[in-house]
Parts: sequence; C-alpha cells; structure tokens
Amino acid sequence: MSPSELAAELAHARRRTESLLEPLSDEQLTRQVSSLQSPLVWDLAHIAHFEELWLLGSSRHDGLYDASAHARAERGALEMLSPVEARSYASDVRARVLERLPELAAEEPLVAMVVQHELQHGETMTQTAVLGGYPVPAPGRPPDVTASGDVLVEAGPFTIGSDDPWAYDNERPAQVVDVAAFRIDRALVTNAEYAAFADDAGLPWQHSSTRAPVEHVSFTDAAAYAAWAGKRLPTEAEWEKAATTAGNELEHLRGAVWQWTSSSFGGYPGFTAYPYAEYSEVFFGDAYKVLRGGSWCTDPLVARLTFRNWDLPERRQIFSGIRCARDA
Ligand SMILES: [Fe+2]
Repeated sequence: MSPSELAAELAHARRRTESLLEPLSDEQLTRQVSSLQSPLVWDLAHIAHFEELWLLGSSRHDGLYDASAHARAERGALEMLSPVEARSYASDVRARVLERLPELAAEEPLVAMVVQHELQHGETMTQTAVLGGYPVPAPGRPPDVTASGDVLVEAGPFTIGSDDPWAYDNERPAQVVDVAAFRIDRALVTNAEYAAFADDAGLPWQHSSTRAPVEHVSFTDAAAYAAWAGKRLPTEAEWEKAATTAGNELEHLRGAVWQWTSSSFGGYPGFTAYPYAEYSEVFFGDAYKVLRGGSWCTDPLVARLTFRNWDLPERRQIFSGIRCARDA
C-alpha cells in the first residue's frame, strides 16, 4: 500500500475508536466495569502506546500500558492518564506517525498490525460498553438467521492461512492441508434453538430476539449445545475450508457472531513469531480455543477468512456464537 492508503486505514481505525468513546462521560471512561475488562481510558492510552512503540521505536509510557505487565483486573487501580491526557497522547503519537509514513510504508506489516490492533481494541471496548450498560455502536446486535440445512464439503486439499502483508504471524505461512469430507450448517444457532437446549440442561438463559444468533456463549456451552443437537463444532481447518470453498452458501459467515471451533490455538507448521512472541505465540497450547468469522462489531479489515481469534473456553463476554458441523 502507498503511504496515503496506509494513512487512510489508520484514520479509519481512529474514527471507529472516537465514535465509540465520544458519547461516554469521563466517569464511564475511567470506571472498571468488570475484572475481565480494562477501564476504557486504559484501552485508549494503550492503543497510543502500542502505536508509539512499534511505529516510532519507543514508548514514553512503557510500564503502564504494556498489556503483559498488568492483568486486566488490576488496571482499574493504576495511576492512568485522564481521558483528556489519553486523547492528547493518542493524537500526538498519530501526528508523528503520519510524518514518518513515507519511511514506514516499507514496513507495511507493522503498520497493518497497528491498524488492526486499534480495530480489535474497538471490539474489546464494545464488550466493555455492553457490560457497563453504555451506548454501543450500530447495529448493536447480530442480524437475524433465515437459512436452514447444511452443506457438504467434499474431502480434499485446500490452502489454509495467508501470506498477505495484512495477515498476522499466526495465519502464516499459507499451506495446503487435507481435510476429510464433512457437513456444516448454513445457519448460525439461534436464540430459540439455544433456549431449548438451555431448558433441557437446566442452564440459566435469557433471550430477547428468538431469530437472532445466540451470542455470549462460552466454548464449553457451545460444545455442549452441539453434542445435544447430535452435531459437533467444526475444526478451524474445516471452518476455513467451508468459508473459502462454499462461503456463499453459509449465512452470516462474517459480521454476525464469532464462531467457536473445536481447535486449540497453535502455530501452523513453519510458524515464525512476528514482530514479537507476545502477540500470538505465548497463547499457543491447549488453554485457548480458536474462534472464526468476526462479529457485528468486528471491522471488515480484521474479519478476513483466515483470521484466527482465540479465548479461554469459559469466556462469554465476547460476541461469540455457534455454527455446527458433523461428519459426512
Ligand atoms: Fe492491545
């Protein structure tokens, strides 16, 4: 991309951040609404810190806004920048980055990481806004489900992953994998379907719109739902193969809810950490499960078909739902 195209993507990410935070009071920005989430003003200054560190070479707030230095639950007690200071920090860093963009264009993957980091924090901040009962960006919920039935995906090789400059280290290198035949549902699981399972299983569950995809489901509950329905969760290779070879037959593939897969998060063969191990590699192993597809508040620039999201199996503050698969 040219420097002006990169500048446009940086500006796009900043507009999303600003439109999310603009309606909120200083009190709402500073409050920690949940031990699972940072105060919103921490996210804002952390976005600026990350951009300063990776695009300008060093950060003036190294300890305070380093995500690995402070667990989310502790961030409310930190001596943080105020909302006005955090906004000024973010705009100062951005002005200096724009001056350096002609040189930075040679390091497109770093700029891409910074843009996507800000967009992904936009989704994290939307989770916080939902938990706090604050206003959230439109549309505020996933679109209704209308599809039914499933699709057969034939056995055979396909290319998983990506070598695009905008792909993250955990999507690389692109490679051919063989997948056995399977069937995958055209539709996401609805609130009505999930409510029937929750009643059977004795789980507490509240829902408003019965045709909307079920949302805020943990991996554990998603896997239990699939088993109850006589199905299973897809592996992430199955999900990506279905998305890239039969994607137009699957409703709400992206932009509705994240879809849990049965796969644990790990590096593809040939993985190399870029630009640092803390981005992906430290999360590899059995503890984290992969989600695919993107939610109603995931920016399209992030919600590519090769993008891998991950979280702990008990987490439900994320905009996560279910698409079932089964053996062919
Ligand atoms: Fe971050």
